[in-house]
Amino acid sequence: MAETLLTIRELTKFFPGIKALDNVHLTVRTGEVHALIGENGAGKSTLVKILTGVYFPTGGTITMEGRELNFKNAIDAQQAGIVAIHQEASMFLELSVTENIYMGHHLRHPKTKRLDWKGMRERTGELLKQLELAIDPDTLVKNLSVAQRHMVEIAKALSLNAKVVIMDEPTSALTTREVEDLYRIVRQLRKEGKAIIFISHKFEEIFEICDYYTVLRDGQYIGEGKVADTSTDEIINMMIGRNIDHMFPKKDPNIGDEILAVENLSQLGAFQNVSFSLHKGEILGFFGLVGAGRTEVMRTIFGIDKRNGGSITIDGKPYAPKGPHDAMAQGIGFVPEDRQRQGVILSMSIGKNITMPQLSSLCHFGITNAKRELEVTKTYGEKMEIRAAGWHVDADTLSGGNQQKVVLAKWIGTNPRILILDEPTKGIDVATKAAVHEFVSQMAGEGIAVILISSELPEILGMSDRVVVMHEGDVTAVFDRKEMNQEQIMRAALGETKEALHG
Ligand SMILES: Nc1ncnc2c1ncn2[C@@H]1O[C@H](COP(=O)(O)OP(=O)(O)OP(=O)(O)O)[C@@H](O)[C@H]1O
Ligand SMILES: [Mg+2]
Repeated sequence: MAETLLTIRELTKFFPGIKALDNVHLTVRTGEVHALIGENGAGKSTLVKILTGVYFPTGGTITMEGRELNFKNAIDAQQAGIVAIHQEASMFLELSVTENIYMGHHLRHPKTKRLDWKGMRERTGELLKQLELAIDPDTLVKNLSVAQRHMVEIAKALSLNAKVVIMDEPTSALTTREVEDLYRIVRQLRKEGKAIIFISHKFEEIFEICDYYTVLRDGQYIGEGKVADTSTDEIINMMIGRNIDHMFPKKDPNIGDEILAVENLSQLGAFQNVSFSLHKGEILGFFGLVGAGRTEVMRTIFGIDKRNGGSITIDGKPYAPKGPHDAMAQGIGFVPEDRQRQGVILSMSIGKNITMPQLSSLCHFGITNAKRELEVTKTYGEKMEIRAAGWHVDADTLSGGNQQKVVLAKWIGTNPRILILDEPTKGIDVATKAAVHEFVSQMAGEGIAVILISSELPEILGMSDRVVVMHEGDVTAVFDRKEMNQEQIMRAALGETKEALHG
């Protein structure tokens, strides 16, 4: 039986109008990977911020190895041995790997007291080697991939002698291969007796890598247990207090005329000779591994990027957008993948974010119609089940998943004829995922043509009428719903053409 390392009791955290945490318990032992599970807004990231000294709790206790902890700031938490792996935001892009790892805790020569760069470089090299990473300590962080930056953050945690390593949705930006690397490192940390707190909305991950779990709902502790003793259904039930009946509410499609035709579209270095058609009422899946070029194709259709060749027609008429305004004028809506950076303005209210694309229709002589704005916001905010203290609060007070829902609501509110969704359910909890799927089906039912980019095969298989598969900028296959199967789609995504698959 592993020893208890970290104990949280009766933890509360209130924000104006919201109890983000309300009487939460968590027990973490050495050498375990502990999943922290809950819907969007359940309080997971808030708990992490308290554990890392970013927020002060309103009440409750945190004890580690029998000692009560009270952090005044993030440095205190680091010194106590609790480190969170953040995404790139916290790294210095222009500095080297070594400089980033030793930022804030430089090594000095024992005698001269000068900064010991040689020692820090060597130690960094050892840490990277220990993690079996082929990264040079002198590389500038800006030249690393997102995955490598994560790994450097983990090396930094090791350099700090962390006892508790927290990962908040660490795999959301990683490719399949990189995820395997991360798992390997998580297992290694576990073997070394560290405790890992792992936050994820993906059940495969929780069952693959985690030993224990704790479930939160609406900021409250619901329960905990061994992962091996539970099931997806039981966890879903704990998360949302009910079961989800149908995960993929696919309706019989009513496919109409062709609305969009893309022929031999190319963009140097991104994709080449991409051809496909899209019909009214159709859900056209786009599958591929990260980097296959799916997003780039959509950016070109939406008028953000220029093409080098090929043609696009809408309703049979040539279409050559000069910018997103041309795309929007044609009734195209585009929910981007990187919603935090491209989709939501954090310093603006939920209402302003949702109604932004419709400003001209809500605005009269420069004065926005506040009543109408609220109506629109309410309609689509409720449809997307956005959880917030009110529609007037700024988007940066929302949980990660709820920020994503704001972007979905914003584009759905424009009543598009063609709706492009780029990984619409990434970072979204299981119940809302089902709601988003239901909604996409409904829209297709109303005749809207939907393009659904997704890296999740179940989502593609469950939702699409046809699927276009891309590999390194090429379309390798297009499958009809009746001929779709997991293996063939995966093989096409790895580069086999449909002819080869059938030949
Ligand atoms: N700085 C803040 N000011 C006001 N409210 C906040 C703040 N930070 C978080 N909240 C609120 O606290 C609640 C919990 O948010 P938290 O980010 O912890 O959720 P989460 O479980 O991480 O969700 P997700 O899965 O979407 O990332 C949410 O209702 C959120 O709106
Ligand atoms: Mg979160």
